[in-house]
Amino acid sequence: MAETRQTGLPKGFRGAEQGWPELHRIPHPPRRLPLAGDVLGVDRRRPVQDSMRFGRELGPIFRRRAFGNEFVFLWGSRLVADLADESRFAKHVGLGIANLRPVAGDGLFTAYNHEPNWQLAHDVLAPGFSREAMEGYHGMMLGVAARLTGHWDRELAAGRAVDVPGDMTKLTLETISRTGFGHDFGSFERDRPHPFVTAMVGTLTYAQRLNSVPVPLAPLLLRGAARRNAADIAFLDRTVDGVVAARRRSGGGDGDLLDRMLDTAHPETGERLSAENVRKQVITFLVAGHETTSGALSFALYYLARHPEVAAKARAEVDRVWGDTAEPGYDQVARLRYVRRVLDESLRLWPTAPGYAREAREDTVLAGEHPMRRGAWALVLLPMLHRDPEVWGEDAERFDPDRFDAGAVRARPPHTFKPFGTGARACIGRQFALHEATLVLGLLLRRYELRPDPDYRLRVTERLTLMPEGLRLRLERRTAPAPAPVTVPDDGSGSAGRCPVHGAGE
Ligand code: HEM
Repeated sequence: MAETRQTGLPKGFRGAEQGWPELHRIPHPPRRLPLAGDVLGVDRRRPVQDSMRFGRELGPIFRRRAFGNEFVFLWGSRLVADLADESRFAKHVGLGIANLRPVAGDGLFTAYNHEPNWQLAHDVLAPGFSREAMEGYHGMMLGVAARLTGHWDRELAAGRAVDVPGDMTKLTLETISRTGFGHDFGSFERDRPHPFVTAMVGTLTYAQRLNSVPVPLAPLLLRGAARRNAADIAFLDRTVDGVVAARRRSGGGDGDLLDRMLDTAHPETGERLSAENVRKQVITFLVAGHETTSGALSFALYYLARHPEVAAKARAEVDRVWGDTAEPGYDQVARLRYVRRVLDESLRLWPTAPGYAREAREDTVLAGEHPMRRGAWALVLLPMLHRDPEVWGEDAERFDPDRFDAGAVRARPPHTFKPFGTGARACIGRQFALHEATLVLGLLLRRYELRPDPDYRLRVTERLTLMPEGLRLRLERRTAPAPAPVTVPDDGSGSAGRCPVHGAGE
C-alpha cells in the first residue's frame, strides 16, 4: 500500500464514514465543531483517557470525529468477542500503528496483513519464543534483574526514592537487547536514559501527535517535530545497524533472535529476511519488547505499594515457592500464581498497549447489529473492555488480583481480557513479557518492602503506550529470613507449557 512521504500514513487514509452504512446509529460526543470535530475539552496528550471518558458517557460503541475523519471505538464485551472472529475480521494497521510505519516499516508489528514479510518473519521468529528458547533467556533475565537490585540497593543506601518507570525501562530494554540481540546498552551505568530510549520515546510521541492534527496539514503544523522525528528514526537505524554489524563481525551469537533474523531460512520456502527487513524487525523488537513490559511492571509495583495486604500475600508466595534458593529456576517462575494474578490485574486496569484495531474481511454485521462493509474498521478500547461492568461487576475499578484465580477466569466469557491483542496478530512476545515481569516482581518482593509516597496520585502518561507518570517508591530491605522451599502442586493454571504465541486462552 502506498504511503505519503511526510506522514507515513497510507494514501487515502480515512476514518469510518465509508465503511459503516449505519454510522448515524452510533453515538458521538454532543458538542461537535463543524471542521475540527469532537475536540472540545479534550486533552491531546491523553487521547486514550479522553476516549475512556467518552466511552463512559456514550456506551459500548461510539464514534469520535477529528478533522473530517470519523473513528469508531468499541469496548462492550459482546462486540469485542465478535471482532475476535478471525474468519470475518483481521488486524487493521491504522491510527497510531500506521503512524509508526516510517519507524518500523513492514516489521512484524506494523506490517499490513497482505505483506509477505509478515508470514515470513512470523514463521522464522516464532520458535524464538518457544519454551526451550525462553528457558535459554532465563539466566540472562536474572543477570539483568541483578543489575536492577544492585542499583536499587545503592539508592536505598543513599536514602533516595527509586524512579520506578525509569528503572523498569532500563531493565526491560537491557533484557530484550541482551536476550534477543546480545547487545548491552549499559542502561544501569547511565544517569540519563540511553539515547536509543530518548529517540524511541520521541518517535512514539510523534506518532501519537500525528493523530491530533488534520492529515493534510501535518507537514506544516508539525514541521519542526517532523524534522526531529526524522533525526530520531535515523538514530534508531544507525544504532541497529551497529548491532547487526557487530554480530556479523563476530561470526554469530548463541542462536538468539538476531541469529534467527540473519541466518534462518523459512522451513518451507527457504526464503530469508532481507537486510532492510532485519533492520525493521530489530527496531520492532527493541521497542515492542520493552516499552509495554516496563509499563506493566510499573503499574504492578504501584498497586503492590498501595495494597500492602496484596504485597504481603504475594511475598508469602515467593518465600514459600522459592525458599532460600539464591536464583529461582525457570520452572519456579510460573509457580508464582498469585504474583501473576497481580500482574494480570494491573494489566486489566491499565493495559499498557491500550488498544488494537480490527477490520472486516468482507461485508458483515457486527454482533448482529452494526453493518460493516469490507475494510471498515474499529478500535478496541482495552481499558474500558477491562472495566465492562457486565463482565467485571460494578466494582470494576477496584484492584483485586483474585479476579484472576483459576475458577474466576474459567467462569468468565472468552475475549474479555485481551492485553496482548487477538488472533494471528496477537503479541508474539506475550510469554516473554509474562516470564520476565513475574520473575522481576518475585525478586523485588523478596528483597524489599515498598513504601509509597502518601501524596502521590496516579497520573497516566500516554505515548501510544501507557505508563504511571512520576511514580517513585521508597524501599526497605526485608529482614525476615525466607522459609525453606515447599513444593507447590502444579494445577495447570501457570504459564509453562502453553503455546508461546497463540496459547493465550482468552
Ligand atoms: C506487557 C507487555 C506487552 C504487551 C501488553 C503487549 C501487547 C501487544 C498487543 C496488544 C499486540 C497486538 C497489537 C495489534 O493487534 O495491533 C502486540 C503485538 C506484538 N508484540 Fe507485544 N506486548 C507486550 C510485550 C511484548 C514483548 C516482550 C515483545 C517482544 C519480545 C513483543 C513483541 C510484539 C510484536 C513483534 C507484535 C506484533 C505481532 C504480529 O503482528 O505478528 N511484545 N503486543
